[in-house]
Amino acid sequence: MRKITIFDTTLRDGEQAPGYSMNIAEKVEMARQLEALGVDVMEAGFAASSPEDFESIRAIAKNIKKATVCSLSRLVREDITRSYEAVKDAAYPRIHVFIATSDIHIMHKLKTTREDILSKVKELVAYAKSLCKDIEFSAEDASRSDWDYLVNIFEAAIDSGANVINVPDTVGYTTPDEMYALINYLKEHVKGIDRVDISVHCHNDLGLAVANTLAAVRAGAKQIECTINGIGERAGNAALEELVMAINTKKDYYNCETGIETRQLFKTSRLLSSITGVPLYPSKPIVGSNAFAHEAGIHQHGVINNPMTYEIMSPESIGIIQNRMVLGKHSGKHAIESRLNELGYELSPEEMERIFAEFKKLTDKKKTITEKDLIALAGAEKMSDIETYVLEGFTVQSGSDSSATSSIRLVKNGEVYMDAAIGSGPIDAAFKAIERITGLGNELVNYTIQSVTEGEDALGEVMVKLKRKDGEDTVTGHGLSTDIIEASIKAYVNGVNKILAFRS
Ligand code: KIV
Ligand code: ZN
Repeated sequence: MRKITIFDTTLRDGEQAPGYSMNIAEKVEMARQLEALGVDVMEAGFAASSPEDFESIRAIAKNIKKATVCSLSRLVREDITRSYEAVKDAAYPRIHVFIATSDIHIMHKLKTTREDILSKVKELVAYAKSLCKDIEFSAEDASRSDWDYLVNIFEAAIDSGANVINVPDTVGYTTPDEMYALINYLKEHVKGIDRVDISVHCHNDLGLAVANTLAAVRAGAKQIECTINGIGERAGNAALEELVMAINTKKDYYNCETGIETRQLFKTSRLLSSITGVPLYPSKPIVGSNAFAHEAGIHQHGVINNPMTYEIMSPESIGIIQNRMVLGKHSGKHAIESRLNELGYELSPEEMERIFAEFKKLTDKKKTITEKDLIALAGAEKMSDIETYVLEGFTVQSGSDSSATSSIRLVKNGEVYMDAAIGSGPIDAAFKAIERITGLGNELVNYTIQSVTEGEDALGEVMVKLKRKDGEDTVTGHGLSTDIIEASIKAYVNGVNKILAFRS
């Protein structure tokens, strides 16, 4: 079976989409999870775009041992040098250069000629090759480029040293039939194409990114570019989890396989949502909360008799935990720890201590504690940075006839800080009281809440995105509780602590 190379660009194309920005520590954490997932190549950023991007790529390059780490670069000498500087310490470094090849981009964006682009490809791909042996070349807007011109461009890139040639559908304009035909045309006409890997990079503007990518696989593409949860510019990129599970469930049809550890898919998807604070819509294929939920009686009946009646893959195959083990008041620390280890969490003794304390508190509020709750507790622990402020207590009051008020008690270095505020609702009042204590002047740019498990005593998970008054970056704070106001306050305090950790 052919092995398909999975090129993940969550940290570059995905991260550049509005609402998905991540700081360096968050990107490194995501990169580690992508490595556990088994991606072959991870595009860690666009080194020349900002000093922060450069530093994140360097940090990822130093931390990742198994996957190729790549930096995107315009076909410009200084950008290429910068990309090389960022990835050179990686176990497997790659520079990914791109330039637009469609007439509309050449004339109206680059304001130059086809000949000029061709000569840049020859000169600068060769320059990139002189620095790094793994070079990917992308013809931006390939799907709207003249096919014979594309042939010339790819031949020049291959002659100058590119070992991967990428065919992006930059504006999500192509269809599966067209993509299939284009890849076949390139295979037939580009001299030297047998020596290199063909790659595709599809955007989802018409909702066809996954279908177009799979059509390219059928035509012989070796590498597919994708992102977790399909995030990316505008309508996003092809979703990694959808591509991988399509290839997996229809192995005989595609006659190929990937090296992805599919049981890490759900965890990776959730990690991205919790880092960015952007939840998934329930019917999102593969990883949405309804992806394996059967509502209609006739479906439920079928699934009870044989899951394959209505399920083409099992929830376990993507790492969704079924509530196999019910935990409660009497469960000991070892049982919790070994269950978390089985679920893929490696925890230090201090982390385990804190998780167990939270677990004990939860058993007072919740009748049955499931593995999903445990995962949420472990996730919240992993997300909690250096704690400067700790929530000690709070009160809120709200009703239809009066303004909402809240008082908050926080502890910092053993000292208690208290304040109160009025707000448009209890959560707003609580956030304002925290601001009065910390004096940071943060702006709340996003707030989401979702329940971790089902039932009336479900744990609620709140994510807040805060923007610092003195900087452009945002941080995501997380809070978990059976009480949504407490979860919200914890999330805000977690965000404040992250900002303080960032500063120091
Ligand atoms: O969409 C696109 O064309 C890209 C390239 C830089 C590969 O993201
Ligand atoms: Zn793209």
